[in-house]
Amino acid sequence: MFTKSSKFYDAIYHFKDYTLAAGKLDAFIKQYSPDARSLLDTACGTGKHIEHLRDKYECEGLDLNNELLEIASQRCPGIRFIHADMTDFDAGRKYDVVTCLFSSIAYVKAKENLNKAVRAMSDHLNPGGLLIIEPWFSKENFWTDRVTANHYDTPELKITWMYASKIENGLSVLDIHYIAGTPDGVVHFTEKHELGLFDDSEYRKAFTDAGLEVHFDKDGLFGRGMYIGVKSL
Ligand SMILES: C[S@@+](CC[C@H](N)C(=O)[O-])C[C@H]1O[C@@H](n2cnc3c(N)ncnc32)[C@H](O)[C@@H]1O
Repeated sequence: MFTKSSKFYDAIYHFKDYTLAAGKLDAFIKQYSPDARSLLDTACGTGKHIEHLRDKYECEGLDLNNELLEIASQRCPGIRFIHADMTDFDAGRKYDVVTCLFSSIAYVKAKENLNKAVRAMSDHLNPGGLLIIEPWFSKENFWTDRVTANHYDTPELKITWMYASKIENGLSVLDIHYIAGTPDGVVHFTEKHELGLFDDSEYRKAFTDAGLEVHFDKDGLFGRGMYIGVKSL
């Protein structure tokens, strides 16, 4: 996954507006659970959502990638970050809100893992708590036969990254090529990102099987939709 690109993560996704995302997320939380106080962001990456939510909620983060967690810890001093797999974790406590944003859920690849992750997240919710998942694409709406390029350009760091979108063995596969340059030199590396293509019924079943009442917002944070599960009281 982000094996070689971790240290460039924030530059790679420089175009993503986390202030806007956190504001919309806060509005969803206020709508479904106005008294929510504690929040666990699973697959939190470099902690950018937490950075914008920590003044409103008592936040913690979880991710599988230690290098990203190190950046998150530097960004958000005093916040607990847990190194764990979102499909099977024990944070040792429960939360009012558990999130999994920017389509990170799809990195679990298989439907069985989707079910395990949603179950593990639901098990960490207080009664009346919310599970909020920003999904990836389904087989029907994933873009194939397309090439995507992004560029980051500052005096000290320049990155171009590019991938063609394919479906292989039922997974969306992004074979990403990166060129990153600093005044010290230029490096080229690749990463293969494989993401599961779950459909609406699979998300909904995972939520209901995990004891959650499901709601769906078609716009979500950035047009990919948003599943909101409410744990019974
Ligand atoms: C696209 S990034 C999103 C990060 C962050 N949520 C954001 O919005 O910037 C996907 C994240 O999922 C994490 N991830 C992938 N598989 C995971 C797993 N099984 N358990 C926990 N984290 C995982 C990666 O390490 C990475 O941080």
